[in-house]
Amino acid sequence: MERNDIQKVTHAPNIRCDKAAEALYIIDQTRLPNEEVFLRLDTAEELYDAIKRLRVRGAPAIGIFAAYALYVLARQIPAEVDFQAELNRCATYLNSARPTAVNLSWALGEMVQEAERRADLPRPALLEALYEKAAAIHADDIAKCTAIAEYGLSLIRDGDGILTHCNAGPLATSRYGTALGPILLGTERGMTLRVFADETRPLLQGARLTSYELERAGVDVTLICDNMASIVMKNGWVQACFVGCDRVAANGDTANKIGTSGVAILAKHYGIPFYVLGPTSTIDRNCPDGAHIPIEERDPEEIRTMWYETPMALPEVKCYNPAFDVTDNELITAIVTEKGICRPPYTESLAALFAAESQERT
Ligand code: MRU
Repeated sequence: MERNDIQKVTHAPNIRCDKAAEALYIIDQTRLPNEEVFLRLDTAEELYDAIKRLRVRGAPAIGIFAAYALYVLARQIPAEVDFQAELNRCATYLNSARPTAVNLSWALGEMVQEAERRADLPRPALLEALYEKAAAIHADDIAKCTAIAEYGLSLIRDGDGILTHCNAGPLATSRYGTALGPILLGTERGMTLRVFADETRPLLQGARLTSYELERAGVDVTLICDNMASIVMKNGWVQACFVGCDRVAANGDTANKIGTSGVAILAKHYGIPFYVLGPTSTIDRNCPDGAHIPIEERDPEEIRTMWYETPMALPEVKCYNPAFDVTDNELITAIVTEKGICRPPYTESLAALFAAESQERT
């Protein structure tokens, strides 16, 4: 991919599935930034494994992937088998791949409900309806990311420095991304923005994915280790923090990549606004607060040995490897969604967002 080519970054199809496809194609995010490899996935195990091993990752991208994955598996259900029961079984299996990002269960739920609504259709028409549903979830995410990028852009000015953690760009979503959306859109419109990307230990999404996407898009990006966020803030180089989200509770507490809450605490200390950007599909209205968000714990080897030529800790050393943490709502300046910018108190502003939506429907 050429550098300075925003369109190629924002419009790169990281997930592909057409109606006739018997498989799902994804860019393998674990091979970036050194290799751009597309994988063909068609078995339940391969699809589950792609989520579990972070070949596809980022809350919205996991949701889009899961919707198409269920369609691919639905096509394989033999005519003599109870379709709805088997579809539910496949959805439950995929849903067990990762616990924190609510988009996974949300997208699978949408697909299962669609199948129930269309249960009377003959099999070919039912499959077509499921494909249309998955494609609609995908198209919807593109529209949502574009709207989030616009809202986010209204919060920053030309010349600003922005700190981001993990990866919430086009690879983690579709089109502009969420946290990187305003940066890519602003750059497309001729603004000059400076980004500090935390490398994001232990899986290095910031180094491998965020700095890769921004560098390719021609954005001024500087990669820092996670423990350098304080000094760049103290130096006055950061005017705003933009991060994505994996699940937002009804009170605004937000789960995102491990280390995010530390960034929010630093931002408060230095008086820098801290913004969470995400689609409303990441808001879990059934989850009252952060204490109810399940936090994924991953393999200790990600800390001890991954990325190193030789292990950096004794094999018997205990490691704690939570993949996410929860940022308390009081540390969040605003939550930027495709429907608008929510400010504290979030219990009210988030509820108002959904109340307006149900009024629109009636
Ligand atoms: O474990 P990951 O890489 O899937 O975690 C991703 C994040 O935490 C992202 O910041 C979040 O999903 C937002 S993606 C738009």
